[in-house]
Amino acid sequence: MNFDFTEDHLMIQQSAKEFAQEAIAPSAVERDIKAEYPAEIVKQLGELGFMGMMVSPDYGGAGLDTLSYVLAMIEISKVDASVGVIMSVNNSLVCYGIEKYGTDFIKEKYLVPLAKGEKLGAFCLSEPEAGSDATNQRTIADKKDNFYFLNGIKNWITNGHSADYYLVMATTDKSKGHKGISTFVVEKDFEGFGRGKKEDKLGIRSSDTSSLTFENCKVPAENMLWEEGKGFNFAMNTLNGGRIGIAAQAIGIAEASFEAAVKYAKERKAFGNPIANLQAIQFMLSDMATKVDCAKLLTFKACALKDSGKPYFKEAAMAKLYSSKVAVENALDSIQVHGGYGYVREYLVERYLRDAKITEIYEGTSEIQKLVIARSLIDGK
Ligand code: CAA
Repeated sequence: MNFDFTEDHLMIQQSAKEFAQEAIAPSAVERDIKAEYPAEIVKQLGELGFMGMMVSPDYGGAGLDTLSYVLAMIEISKVDASVGVIMSVNNSLVCYGIEKYGTDFIKEKYLVPLAKGEKLGAFCLSEPEAGSDATNQRTIADKKDNFYFLNGIKNWITNGHSADYYLVMATTDKSKGHKGISTFVVEKDFEGFGRGKKEDKLGIRSSDTSSLTFENCKVPAENMLWEEGKGFNFAMNTLNGGRIGIAAQAIGIAEASFEAAVKYAKERKAFGNPIANLQAIQFMLSDMATKVDCAKLLTFKACALKDSGKPYFKEAAMAKLYSSKVAVENALDSIQVHGGYGYVREYLVERYLRDAKITEIYEGTSEIQKLVIARSLIDGK
């Protein structure tokens, strides 16, 4: 076991930190208030190689390991968790999914621009009646000649309004249950594809989330990922890596909350001294720092397993479960340390709380993570 980062890891962490401070931080508050998508920032992230971090250089990516991606995700999310989720979906759901399960044709056509950040991706599993119960897919794909025609609705899609390419799960054979689900790459300009309402959210407000509609949406058969009937396994396998990304996003928020609390506790005076001298505050700070470290260790372990080709789905679920809980707890504690100032927009901590909550919901709720962990423990897998 080695707790040291390599020079390369430190360099990536530092460059993500600098970019976050210089290019993302100045507009984060205003974009949150206006719910404004950070188009220019996403473009720059692509140019710097942050949108296809784990993709092989053969397909336009940076060819880095999962730990590098997580370190960058933490730094970006520390400053703006909205940018974090945009980056996370493109990297660990879309690029990873296509690189692992796409044909050469699909990789050349779609992965290369996605990995270079020239195009943006979205991952479309959730539906109005298929959130946690994701096998209950109502979107249908009927084959005619060399095309599939998709009909249905997708919900809660991150990058819904901004993406160019969408990985869409749809039922190709209803009689086979989840083994009758397949995955397709759908372009935004395909006939029959539509974007629905953009959600007005509590947090991560500058990322866009929307529903999507498919009305006889015509998709070439060659745009299927993996093979017919493997779409649900595709979604689950891909989400395992996605959950590591969301754990990193949550750690970013948890760490930002902690650092804001320390700074404020040293500045704010009560009873004639900085409140950092009060044991009640010190206990909160100690708990916050310990939780951040625990969340990191769980998440780094999941990275190490993934990168060494070992099973990691249980550890990814544990990392997301714990890190998202810590994000919410640390944001709440940071508000408590700030007192009334924590409750107003002038200080950043109220946004941390609003942004933190979603990490317990998307890419599998905390309850689903517990179910995944419990099944693994019981089945001994
Ligand atoms: N890794 C790999 N495979 C998995 C898996 C995992 N973590 N969890 C389930 N599977 C596989 C099972 O092995 C099984 O495969 P086989 O049939 O080939 O053996 C298949 O999936 C079905 O599993 P179950 O029989 O256990 O099905 P279930 O209905 O009882 O449970 C579930 C499935 C775990 C609840 C699953 O539906 C699930 O994870 N739900 C949550 C969905 C989710 O995370 N949605 C997030 C939406 S995407 C998003 O949020 C992105 C965004 O924009 C930010």
